[in-house]
Amino acid sequence: MSITLASSGLTADLPYASHRLELVARAICELFGADAFPELLADLAEYLGRPVAPLTPAERSRCDFPGMLAMLGWFHPARIEQLIHREWLDATTNEFDDHLGALRSLSAVERAETIEIVGAGTCRIGAHLASRDHVRRVRCGDLSPIALAAGRALIRGETSSLPKRLRRPRSLISVDAGTRLRQDSVASRYIPAGPQLAPIEFVVHDAFAALRCECEVMLLHYVLDAPSRFDTMLIRSAARLRPGQRLAVVTAISDGTRNPCHIVETVARCGFTVDSVAIKRLPYSLSCHDFTYERTVSNTLLLEATKRGEGDDDLAVFPTHRIADMMASASALLTPGQRNFPFEATDRLARALRGAFRGQRWAEFSSRLTDALGRDLSDTVTAYLCAREFMVLTYLPDSYRTQNAPR
Ligand SMILES: C[S@@+](CC[C@H](N)C(=O)[O-])C[C@H]1O[C@@H](n2cnc3c(N)ncnc32)[C@H](O)[C@@H]1O
Repeated sequence: MSITLASSGLTADLPYASHRLELVARAICELFGADAFPELLADLAEYLGRPVAPLTPAERSRCDFPGMLAMLGWFHPARIEQLIHREWLDATTNEFDDHLGALRSLSAVERAETIEIVGAGTCRIGAHLASRDHVRRVRCGDLSPIALAAGRALIRGETSSLPKRLRRPRSLISVDAGTRLRQDSVASRYIPAGPQLAPIEFVVHDAFAALRCECEVMLLHYVLDAPSRFDTMLIRSAARLRPGQRLAVVTAISDGTRNPCHIVETVARCGFTVDSVAIKRLPYSLSCHDFTYERTVSNTLLLEATKRGEGDDDLAVFPTHRIADMMASASALLTPGQRNFPFEATDRLARALRGAFRGQRWAEFSSRLTDALGRDLSDTVTAYLCAREFMVLTYLPDSYRTQNAPR
């Protein structure tokens, strides 16, 4: 179901929307202050039917930070500040121009008239694409309503509406004469977005959710970096495309968890032909004071592919150790600070999951879960379990196929 958040100009298309939107409202009050993002907070209060309050001390003490990230995307002021800094700051540390050069080498992204960005962050790439003559529609999707609301304000030049925390000067630390650290303050002045020729939709969306992509091209832009394993997110995103639609991926690969060969193989096994692949050195500085370096540069994979058909049959699903507690105890709806929020671990769900996890094959898991819960609930539960890394999707290696081939 799509929820319109009219005053803030966002829509929300995500599973467990009410739990997530309540949590995001409370995170804004808690971390930015109750007067920050007033339009978004007013929309959320209206949707929830009550004013929102910061977390209670008891909830705060139980707060599960990785769990909140999986439910809200980037929500912490320091992180949002970094996204803005990297793309919008009117300073030499702005990294956008380098990315623009790289983006031009992605021909499907260059030519598309309609494009969806997954993990759009504070939307500078969306603004750039929407400023091009031939583009008809840009969909900026991100799990974080906070990043999208900040991006929309920056695109509209309404920077004075950003919370104070995002307007304060930034500090850059460098080494002075080899003996001391020097701290320079950089005023938060932002680059104007330029003309918007195509409409931009700002959509709160979870990359793990099953939702058809209606654009020619889906660009996963530094979003495979968000989960601890990239494959579940890549496989769920690829399933949103139909034959003929195109996928573009930009992701840092230098930290060891995203092996480029594994990424390319996974894309092919999801039913795509790989059209182009490149590895470039591009900046992604996750710190607004990057200790003596103006930029942190990473090996970055850029890939484009066209969907041709279904993925191969060896897609496997594994429960992780984190799901055990949830399946063991059916309890009432849990509160935001607790580990399995917002999953309602009823007996029926716990039974359905135990039945569905009998084998490793995704096709069997999915049909058992759908039989037990119906299509909608089964999609929602799957999206949630993947987002929280309670289960992992991955293609079994070729050796498995050889060993299990019929004789
Ligand atoms: C590393 S940032 C990249 C942002 C932007 N593309 C850029 O280059 O600056 C990752 C972004 O992915 C978003 N994200 C994290 N998990 C997500 C999910 N499950 N679905 C959609 N977006 C997600 C975060 O909110 C954050 O904005």
